[in-house]
Amino acid sequence: MEEHVEGGARFFADTRSVVSADMGVFYNPQMRENRDLSLFVISWLLSCRTPRRLIFPMAASGVRPWRMFEELEVPPCEVVINDLDPRAIEAAKSSRALNPRASAWGGSLIFSNTSAQALLASGKPADYIEIDPFGSPLPFLDAAIQRIAHRGVLAVTATDTAALCGTYPKTGLRKYHAFTARSPLMHEHAARILAHVVERNASRHGRYARVIFAYAHLHYVKLFFEVYDSKSASARIIADAEYWRIDRTGFTRERVAHAHLPVSTSHERGQDADLRFIGPLSAQPLADASLIEHIDHTSVQLSPTTRAAIGTIREESRIAGSAIDLHVLASEMGLASVPRTAHVIERLGAHRASRTRFSDTAIRTGASLDEIREAMR
Ligand SMILES: C[S@@+](CC[C@H](N)C(=O)[O-])C[C@H]1O[C@@H](n2cnc3c(N)ncnc32)[C@H](O)[C@@H]1O
Repeated sequence: MEEHVEGGARFFADTRSVVSADMGVFYNPQMRENRDLSLFVISWLLSCRTPRRLIFPMAASGVRPWRMFEELEVPPCEVVINDLDPRAIEAAKSSRALNPRASAWGGSLIFSNTSAQALLASGKPADYIEIDPFGSPLPFLDAAIQRIAHRGVLAVTATDTAALCGTYPKTGLRKYHAFTARSPLMHEHAARILAHVVERNASRHGRYARVIFAYAHLHYVKLFFEVYDSKSASARIIADAEYWRIDRTGFTRERVAHAHLPVSTSHERGQDADLRFIGPLSAQPLADASLIEHIDHTSVQLSPTTRAAIGTIREESRIAGSAIDLHVLASEMGLASVPRTAHVIERLGAHRASRTRFSDTAIRTGASLDEIREAMR
């Protein structure tokens, strides 16, 4: 085991040239952005209210909570660091002494070595729960949704993107009950499909899960929800879910509300090679405005790439409309070269188009397909 540094924290973890589930005390430096975002959202949460309890059920080395203590002002409350692997909990305990603010913190720090499901199944409500498994978060959602406090924040990471992005459509259907398809915008679609799975899970317990932040990077999708006790809002969100008909550029040609979908539609139209139906997916905004603006006030040591990503999200959240991949569109139009993204955005008008967090080669715009084609010429 070796000592590592990330942001303001120092901690023990295993180092292997290949990161894998059986590497010992798990630490993947490539997931820095994922952790930056958790810290950013916790920072926002602490700026809005005083938490009673924050739970890290799959903490591994504890890098996330250690960074939280070192980079943020955490008021006295209860913080739970759990992992199924006893080696992880031993490492996390040893790491506390490396972090001066964590060592001096006056709240209740609990180390626990059990399954996340057992940990979350009982106890008082938590204001923050971080679900960060290997693969799918599905086995943990039910317990997490029931344990989160009213207006608490639930963070959910999925690394089984092949199932959510349409690489394995049958797996997507079996596990996530959704039609999926590969496209240049598959990461947005994956985020929205997973968001709706969480919404459905919450609604079964009379709870409304509102997406406050969505992100996809490398091989993972990460979502944050503010969860409310509201049966009426949870029923509305189920009716508001949509199926989207997308083309090869990822552009949404048609949106059909779940409530209005003829039973056979998604299956029959899902067979078309050029226009494919995906969903059900959440059609809600993918970022909360006050959370995004918090970027100007946080003390979290965000990496430059995380800061840039949040900047893009800030721009993008002002635009209502579909994303579209400019490279695929240029090839469909037979253009000799792809026009610069900035140029296309300028021609459409910065108030109507922006870059998107979900792809470097796409833009988001409220413009029609004809207008986008015109701006490409
Ligand atoms: C992806 S790693 C977590 C990484 C960590 N959150 C970080 O930021 O570095 C997943 C962790 O979940 C733990 N784990 C796997 N199954 C679990 C379960 N059922 N309950 C609790 N922990 C589990 C593993 O031991 C592993 O440490």
